[in-house]
Amino acid sequence: MKHFVYRLLALTILILPSWQTRAEEGMWIPMLLKQLNESHMQQMGMRLSAEDIYSVNQSSLKDAIVHFGGFCTGEMISAEGLLLTNHHCALGQIQRHSSVANDLISNGFWARSRSEELTNPGLFARFLIRMEDVTKSILEGISESTTEEDRQRIITERIAHLEKQAVENTHYEANIRPFFYGNEYYLFITETFPDVRMAGAPPASIGKFGGDTDNWMWPRHTGDFALFRVYTAPDGSPAEYHEDNIPYRPRHHFPISLKGVQPGDFTMVFGYPGRTEQYLHSRAIEDIIENINPQRIALRDMRLNILQAEMDKSDEVRIQYTSKYARISNHHKKWVGENWGLLNFNALDRKYARENDFARWSSKRKNRKLYGGLLNQIQEQYDRRQGLELVQQYRMEAILAPEIVMLAYRLNPFLKLPDNEEQKRKILEQAETMVENHFKDYHTPADRQVFVELLSLYIINIPEEFHTESMKEHANNLGSLFDASALKNESFIKKILQNPSDENINKLRNDVISIFLNEYESMYAQKVQPVLKETGDELDRLYRRYIQGLREMEKYRAFYPDANSTLRITYGKVDGYVPRDATSYLPVTSLDGVMEKHDPDHKDFTLPKKLIQLYEEQDYGIYKNEEGKLPVCFIASNHTTGGNSGSPVINADGHLIGLNFDRSWESTMSDYNYDPQICRNISVDIRYVLFIIDKFAGAGHLLEEMTLVQ
Ligand code: ARG
Ligand code: GLU
Repeated sequence: MKHFVYRLLALTILILPSWQTRAEEGMWIPMLLKQLNESHMQQMGMRLSAEDIYSVNQSSLKDAIVHFGGFCTGEMISAEGLLLTNHHCALGQIQRHSSVANDLISNGFWARSRSEELTNPGLFARFLIRMEDVTKSILEGISESTTEEDRQRIITERIAHLEKQAVENTHYEANIRPFFYGNEYYLFITETFPDVRMAGAPPASIGKFGGDTDNWMWPRHTGDFALFRVYTAPDGSPAEYHEDNIPYRPRHHFPISLKGVQPGDFTMVFGYPGRTEQYLHSRAIEDIIENINPQRIALRDMRLNILQAEMDKSDEVRIQYTSKYARISNHHKKWVGENWGLLNFNALDRKYARENDFARWSSKRKNRKLYGGLLNQIQEQYDRRQGLELVQQYRMEAILAPEIVMLAYRLNPFLKLPDNEEQKRKILEQAETMVENHFKDYHTPADRQVFVELLSLYIINIPEEFHTESMKEHANNLGSLFDASALKNESFIKKILQNPSDENINKLRNDVISIFLNEYESMYAQKVQPVLKETGDELDRLYRRYIQGLREMEKYRAFYPDANSTLRITYGKVDGYVPRDATSYLPVTSLDGVMEKHDPDHKDFTLPKKLIQLYEEQDYGIYKNEEGKLPVCFIASNHTTGGNSGSPVINADGHLIGLNFDRSWESTMSDYNYDPQICRNISVDIRYVLFIIDKFAGAGHLLEEMTLVQ
């Protein structure tokens, strides 16, 4: 007996410390913080309660968090609707308001009064009202013996029903999402404001300082921020732009701390991470490392080189392609870092070890029969789709990447016009806007090269059974295919849309590029899509069971679901890291480092004169740190991903200390494999943001509406 008690004690001691010193991994569900994270966060230094962060009964931090346009995060920083997000999240908007004569990318933009703010049709600010665990209602009565088909049908019906019921007689939206591959379901009630105006943005020489050269890298010196203002109808409800609209009054806005950060300080990031796959089988990771990443990196390499050369030739093309180039380059570079990280930090070994544990565990007891052979079944599905995921990548990165093909793709749905005149007119209007936007930023010579080079790579690297007739026919003169198309001609397309007779519409349908695309799509729909869909559904089912098993096996571990563009909290501490042998990084950069990088001969590192002058005068005001330096960026061990851009970085007291905008290159692998030793998120220090608004832009009037904490 005594022996048993000792063993129990030893066991508790073994379990407890590992629980307490658990690494900063995880993207946690706000409503479960109390249960899963609160005490750990407080041990790490947080002075808030879970209820301060997420509450349905009182105002809480979550009321200041915005899903910005659905692709980034933003936060409220004043009682009058002021919203802070990243410059790179706003780049599309900034570019749309720019021309050669009025280049807001290069010059920045500051609304001197509210009437100067710029409207952005299509952009929205979405707030979470509350969330709810609806797993029971969704899965009730569904069991292991329910067929997958029935399961899907029942769930879809229940979701539709619950979503409708949840927002009846309100102007809110309801959305139910699966978590842990469908082991759990959560309902999200949101409120969406479509009048979001641009209030300020620094020039790209600050907001994008370092450009694609420094992107994903530390040490970093980017002032990656922009300001918007959310407006509502006079009664406070969401409304499209109207001059009578008034600034939104949030239930909470972040106080801004001027105290800054020290190594070891607690930080958390609250926002909308897009997508991660933490539980992926080693087999899938192998494929990413060996095939998927190298190939899509090569395809984008090609595209970027072509675009860069064209942008260097003309300012007009540079403006047209700034935002597109940044988007293509961003993931290109991310995949390079991801592969490096996965290979150098033993992601596969960790996967193999866990899978071995699982196989052993599941074979041990009768009641674990459900999990026996699961990993082999997963492998079998990957065998069945062998090579097809690569075709899928090539469809995205080679076939649909030339803009002319994308245009044909986007025109397709407009070519089946309804009989109803009213509907028809609406659809044609939409088509025209789409076409105008396409040609505003279109440079034919660049696209021709992209088309020829990418299709050549497709033909070389993808097996012949996935080639189409027109591909084979033109394999040696792809340029002529491009040249024969009328989809380079804006007025031709617009005339057709203005006079959409059958004969005219057929001209679009029978364009060589439309035919090329449609041929490809039907091949893809026959040979690729069905197998991907079938194995994909089967994999979802198997992963659902796998995670259920893992959670049983690792009973004492807190599990977090993969990112799925729903609101999450991640927390960690300000910390440097050792990326490679004999190299160690400190966690904070300053304006001194910005100046070190300054290079008038390199477009990514050319600073505005005004900033150099402020540096020379050391005119940092209240924004400097104890050493008299102006802090610029810092890193911490928060587990973030794409979509977290613009997320508030919050200190132990719930005050804003920075704005998340990136991860270090070595940590982009954290979407599959978070490693606390080296995974770091990169944030711009809020004091640099305030300094730029105040001293650089002279937009101090914006500071007056903020709540600063000394
Ligand atoms: N890497 C960051 C993100 O994934 C920033 C991208 C924008 N910056 C750039 N230089 N392209 O979105
Ligand atoms: N820049 C990314 C974004 O736009 C965040 C970086 C990351 O992937 O962590 O969301």
